[in-house]
Amino acid sequence: MIGVIPAAGIGQRMEAEIPKQYLVVAGKTLLDHSICALFNDPRIEQVWVALHEHDRWWPQSLYAKDQRVHTTQGGGTRAESVVAILNALLQQHAKKDALVVVHDAARPGLSTNALARVIDAAESEPERGALLALPVRDTVKFAHVQASSHVARTVDREQLWLAQTPQVFQLEPLLTAITHAQANKIAVTDESSAMESMGISPALVIGNRAGFKVTDPEDLALAEYYLQRASQ
Ligand code: C5P
Repeated sequence: MIGVIPAAGIGQRMEAEIPKQYLVVAGKTLLDHSICALFNDPRIEQVWVALHEHDRWWPQSLYAKDQRVHTTQGGGTRAESVVAILNALLQQHAKKDALVVVHDAARPGLSTNALARVIDAAESEPERGALLALPVRDTVKFAHVQASSHVARTVDREQLWLAQTPQVFQLEPLLTAITHAQANKIAVTDESSAMESMGISPALVIGNRAGFKVTDPEDLALAEYYLQRASQ
């Protein structure tokens, strides 16, 4: 099984000098935490990381010289970075039906337990695949983009989930799905949405709050809290 980490973003919303995946919390960069978390499951034998073409920080990674970790150049969007890795894997003759475990570099708090559960779900229904997600707790309002300060309606939250990563799918079907979605101008902000565009209904596996995506500067303190708590 192969871990896939798109880490080629520039982390614009973080307002930091260095891309957010290289910010340090609880003693390690976000990216190193994410790689470490994937290797906590013995089924993951190798991890592929997509890096920005002008990345200067990877050589300092704890995993830069690890034989199990490979890098490739990412693309202009998260989906393109994932596609770059999937193509590299096919070139390396990875099995077309191998499960790939796609995980954001910016989610350092992935727990071993949640990872095992999402992989179990994907292994039991590989054509369907699986993703971690959380049920929505807040009341959700819909607003038209042009008038975002006024509520158009309230959305029934009972049916809503917040998608997290890892998202686990078979290599070639995932590559086909992302390519299809891109060709049809369907927004692909995660792997599941690409699979959905092919009529697939991936399994939802309940994640946990520690698996949130570090996005804004104040998220760093929260990530630190979850990582310190997990290490105790
Ligand atoms: O920007 P966002 O937080 O949505 O990025 C999610 C993940 O996708 C991050 O790990 C980021 O580094 C990665 N990414 C990428 N290539 C891009 C943009 C984002 O690998 N062009």
